Amino acid sequence: MSFQAESVIRKALRSKAARQMFEARFKRYAPDLLASIESVYGNQSIALLQELLPIMLDFYRDRSEDLKQLDLERMLKPDWFQEENMLAYVCYTERFADNLQGIQGKLDHLQELGVTYLHLMPMLQPRPAPNDGGYAVQDYYKIREDLGTEAELEALTTALRKHKISLCMDLVLNHVAEEHEWAEKARQGSDIHQSYFHTYADRTLPDQYEQTLLEIFPDFAPGNFTWDERLKRWVWTTFNSWQWDLNWSNPAVFLEFVKIILFWANKGVDVFRLDAIAFIWKRMGTDCQNLPEVHDITQALRAVVRIVAPAVLFKAEAIVAPEKLIHYLGRGQHYGKVSDLAYHNSLMVQIWSSLASRNTFLMQKALQNFPEKPTSASWATYVRCHDDIGWAISDEDAAQAGLHGESHRRFLSDFYSGNFEGSHARGLVFQENKRTGDRRISGSMASLNGLEVALQTQNRHLQHLAIERNLLAYAVVLGYGGIPLLYMGDELACLNDYRYSENPEHAMDNRWVHRPEMDWTIAEQRHDPATPHGQMFLGLKHLIETRKMLPQLHAGQPVWVLNSEVPSVLVIERPHPMGHMLQFYNFSEHHMQYPIHILHERGYHQPMDHIAGTHLDLHLGYIPLPPYARVWVTNRG
Ligand code: GLC
Repeated sequence: MSFQAESVIRKALRSKAARQMFEARFKRYAPDLLASIESVYGNQSIALLQELLPIMLDFYRDRSEDLKQLDLERMLKPDWFQEENMLAYVCYTERFADNLQGIQGKLDHLQELGVTYLHLMPMLQPRPAPNDGGYAVQDYYKIREDLGTEAELEALTTALRKHKISLCMDLVLNHVAEEHEWAEKARQGSDIHQSYFHTYADRTLPDQYEQTLLEIFPDFAPGNFTWDERLKRWVWTTFNSWQWDLNWSNPAVFLEFVKIILFWANKGVDVFRLDAIAFIWKRMGTDCQNLPEVHDITQALRAVVRIVAPAVLFKAEAIVAPEKLIHYLGRGQHYGKVSDLAYHNSLMVQIWSSLASRNTFLMQKALQNFPEKPTSASWATYVRCHDDIGWAISDEDAAQAGLHGESHRRFLSDFYSGNFEGSHARGLVFQENKRTGDRRISGSMASLNGLEVALQTQNRHLQHLAIERNLLAYAVVLGYGGIPLLYMGDELACLNDYRYSENPEHAMDNRWVHRPEMDWTIAEQRHDPATPHGQMFLGLKHLIETRKMLPQLHAGQPVWVLNSEVPSVLVIERPHPMGHMLQFYNFSEHHMQYPIHILHERGYHQPMDHIAGTHLDLHLGYIPLPPYARVWVTNRG
C-alpha cells in the first residue's frame, strides 16, 4: 500500500487494545478491500483509501462497548446466522405496531413464534407519497417521522439485542428519491452532485442503452430514463420516474454509503438488506444487471464493515436467474467476500409452481440444476414477501421437465389470478407486459392457497386444504436451509386486503393487496385449533419448534434434492455427520405412498418423523403421505 495506513491507525487509536483489534481486522480484510477498490476505481483508489480509512477509524472509535462485545461474539461464532434456530419476521413497522416504540410492545408475539431476526421494512425518511413503499429515500440519516427517531431506533436495537433478535434495515443503494439533497444540489448546478447520477443532455445515449434494458415497472413507469425539467437533462430512473439511479462509478457515492452503513451499524443495525443491488452498475450493450463491478463494490463495502463492525451482515436482494444469483453469495474471486445472505427466489417460485401443478418434477430439476452455494453463506428462504411473484422459470429447466417454459409461466399467471379452471387462488395480475406477455402476481399466501375462496364458500374441507398448503409451503422453507423469512400475516393465514384500492397512495400498485395491517383480532384466535387462523399459527409454531431440534437444518449443511419416485412428492436429503435427514413433501390433495426402500437403502433402521413425533413403520412397505404431508425423518428416535 503506498499510503501509510499504519501510521494513520496509530495516530487515531490511542488505546493499545483498540488499536490491536482494528489492526488485526484491517490486516485480515485490507487485501479484499484494496483488490475490489482497485478493480472498480483504478487510479482513483489511493485517494479514495486516504479518505476512507479516517472515516472507518471514526466509526470504529464511536462504536459502543455493547456492540464491540457483539462483534467479538460473532467473530467467534461466524455461523451464528446459519443456525437451525434462526427465524426472520418481516413487516412494515406501522402496519405491525404503529411505530418503533410500539414494536417493543409486540415483542411477545415475535418471541412466541421464536423469531431471532426482525426485518422492519423501509424505515428511513422517504419522499412524500408515492414513494414505492419507502424505497425512495429522501434522507438516509433520518427515521421516518411517523415511526420515531434515531434514538428510538437505538433503544429498539438495544431491547432486541437483549432478546437475541437481530434487526435488519433496508439499504436502498441503487437510487434515491428525486427530492434527495444530492438531486436538489445537482439541479442547483452542483457538478459534484450531478456526477452522483447518470444524466444525459439528449436521448442519444439513453436510446442506445434502452436497446438492451428491461422494464421493471412497464405498467406505471415505462422506460428507464426520465426528463427532469429543472435539471434540463435525462436522468436514469430504472424503477419509478422519481427514483434516480446513483452513479456508483463515482467514488464519492461509495464513500457516502460507507458513512450511511456505518452510521446505522453503530446504532445497532445487524443486517443490511441491499435493495435492488443487481442494478447498481451500468454498461452499454448489457441489461445493466449483475455486472462484475456490482460484486466488487459489495466486496469493498463488506470488507469495510468487517473491519469496523464485524457483527454486521449483508443480505442481497437480487431477484435474478440462478447462475447470476449465486454470485451474490460469492463465486470465484468473490468467494466468501460479498453478501452473507441472499433471497432464494427460485425456491419460492418453485413452491408456487408445484402447488399449482401438483407436480414437483420441474422443481426437482430447477433445484438440482441450481449452483451450489458457499458453505459459509446462507439463503433467505421464503414463501411470500412484500413484492409480487414473477415466474422466474427458465426455458431450459422447463424443457428438462418436459414443459414449455412460456406456456407454464402463462399457466401459473392464469392459475394464481384465479383464471384457470378449478383454481383455488385469488391473486391479482401485477405489471402485465404487453410486449413479452409476462404477468406477475400479487396476493397473500393464504389467498393464493385457496383460503379466501374456502372461507367465502364456508367449505370446511377446502379451508383445511388451504391451511395444509400454507403449512407445506412453510415446511419447505423451514427445512431447506437458510433463514426462513416469515412474512407478517402468514402466521395467521391472513387474506388479501382489497382496501388498498381506496387509498390514493396505494391504488395504483396492487402489491398493497398483500401488505395489510396486522389483524390483532385474528391474532387472538391463534391458539384456537377450531379456526383456520389458529390451525395455521399452531401448525407453524410446531414446525418452527421442531426445526430447532434438528442440527441437519443448519444452513451450512448441504441440501440434496433427490429424484422422486412419486411425481407430486418432493424428496430432500440433508446430510449431516450426526446422521442424515430425509424430508418428504406431498404437493397434492391426494393420499400418496412413497416406496419404503428409500429408507432401507439409506440405512434408516429406526426412522422417526419429527413433525408427527412418531416412528415410521418399516413393515408397511411405504411411507404414507396424506394430502400436503410434510415429513422430516432421521434415524434417531
Ligand atoms: C426492491 C423492493 C421493491 C422495490 C424495488 C425498488 O425490489 O423489494 O419493493 O419496488 O426494490 O426499490
